[in-house]
Amino acid sequence: MTETTATTGCPFAAAASGADKDYHGYQPFEMKDPFGAYAELRSEAPVMFDERVGYYVVTRYDDVKSVFDDWETFSSENAQAPVRKRGPQATKIMEEGGFTAYSGLSARRPPEHTRIRSIVQKAFTPRRYKVMEPFIRQNVVDLLSAMLENPENQGDILRDLAYDLPTITILTLIGADVEKIDDFKRWSDSRAAMTWGDLSDEEQIPHAHNLVEYWQECQRLVAEAHANGGDNLTADLVKAQEDGAEITDHEIASVLYSLLFAGHETTTTLISNAMRVLLNHPEQWQALIDDPKKISGAINEVLRYSGSIVAWRRKALKDTEVGGVPIPEGAELLLVMGSANRDESQFENGEEFDISRPNASEHLSFGYGIHYCLGQMLARLQTKIALEEIVKIAPHLQLVAPEEITFRENISFRVPESVPVRWDS
Ligand code: HEM
Repeated sequence: MTETTATTGCPFAAAASGADKDYHGYQPFEMKDPFGAYAELRSEAPVMFDERVGYYVVTRYDDVKSVFDDWETFSSENAQAPVRKRGPQATKIMEEGGFTAYSGLSARRPPEHTRIRSIVQKAFTPRRYKVMEPFIRQNVVDLLSAMLENPENQGDILRDLAYDLPTITILTLIGADVEKIDDFKRWSDSRAAMTWGDLSDEEQIPHAHNLVEYWQECQRLVAEAHANGGDNLTADLVKAQEDGAEITDHEIASVLYSLLFAGHETTTTLISNAMRVLLNHPEQWQALIDDPKKISGAINEVLRYSGSIVAWRRKALKDTEVGGVPIPEGAELLLVMGSANRDESQFENGEEFDISRPNASEHLSFGYGIHYCLGQMLARLQTKIALEEIVKIAPHLQLVAPEEITFRENISFRVPESVPVRWDS
C-alpha cells in the first residue's frame, strides 16, 4: 500500500501536517475494528478535517442524516470519484480502452438524477425480483448443501454461499451471462479497489485493464438488448427508451455498470456479516432458529451494527456548516454511517448487538434522501432467504476464530475476507 497522501494540494505538505494532528485513532482505510475510533470522534471531534485524505469526517447521527437529506447544499457528485488520484499508466489504459463509464445514479445530480432514477425505478420494480424468490431459494439450498458436503466439516460462508448467491441473482436480473460470474466478481473487486482503495500507481494497472473489460461488457449488453430484446432489466430499459423514455444508450450502460457492482458486492458482505455477527451471539442466533419470523428485524440490526458500507461521500456546493463547524464551498465530506449507526443519542446502548432493538431500521446504511439505495429490498430479500434456509438446514454452524477475521483495506466498504465456520456431524 502507498504512503498516505492527500487528494488535494501538495501531498507531502499535507501528509506532514497530518502527522501532527490527533485523529483520535481514526485510520480512514482500516476496517478491522474502527468502532472505538468512531466513538471517540463522535465525542471529541464529530466534524473533523482529515488532512491525510482531504475530507471532513462526519460521525454523529443527526449530522450524517441532515447532510444526506440536503442535496441542494451537499451534492453526491464525488461519490464515485477515486479516493486516490488515478496514476498516469492507469489513465492511459482506460483512455485507450474507451472507458467512459459514469456513475449510473449515485454521483449524478438533479435534474439528470431525477430523470434517470424515475426510468430505472419503473424497470426495477419488486415485481421484477419477487418472481425470482424460488430461484434465489433454490440457489441458497444448493450452495449450502454443497458446503455441508465438506468431509472435514468446515466451510466459509463468504466463499461458499455469500459470494455467488447475489451475483447469480443480479446477472440473471440484468440478462448477463451467469457463466461469466468470475469475470464480474473480478471486475467488481477492481472497481472497489480503484475507487475507494489506497492503491499506488503501479497497483492500479491490472485494475485499469479490468475496468476497461467491465465497461465494454456493459456496452455489449445494451447493444445485445437492442438487437435481440429479452425478458430482463436491460431489455426493459432499452424498450423504455425505444418507447420514448429520455435515456441514452450510454446512460443505460452506466446504470448497468452501477448495478452489476452495487447489486452483489454489498449483499455478499451483508450475508457474510449477518452470519459472522449472529453466530458470534449464540443466544440471538438461537432466537432466530426458534422463531424465524424474527429474521427481518435481525437483518436491520446487522445493517445498523455492521453495515456493508460504513462511509459515503458528499461535496459542499456553497459555504455552509455542519454541527457548528464551518464548511467551505467545494469541501468534501465523508459521512461515516458506521459511526452514526452506533450514536448513543439515536440508539440506546448503540455498541451492543440486539436483534430486538425497536428502532434498528433507523440505521443509515442505505443512505438517506434522494439517493436512498434503489436495491435495498433486493438485498434484504436475498439475506432473508439465506438466513431462513440456514436456520432450517444448518442451525448447528459455529464460527471459527472470529477475532482472526481480517477486513479489506478500504475507505467505504467494510468487507470481511472470510467467515469460517465448522459443524459437528
Ligand atoms: C446490503 C446491500 C446494500 C447496501 C449496504 C447499499 C448501500 C447503498 C448506499 C449507501 C447508497 C448511497 C445512498 C446515498 O447516497 O444516499 C446506495 C445507492 C444505490 N444502491 Fe445500494 N446498497 C445495497 C444493495 C444494493 C443492491 C442489491 C442494488 C441493486 C440491485 C443497489 C443499487 C443501488 C443504486 C442504483 C444506488 C444509487 C441510487 C441513487 O443514487 O439514486 N444497492 N446503496
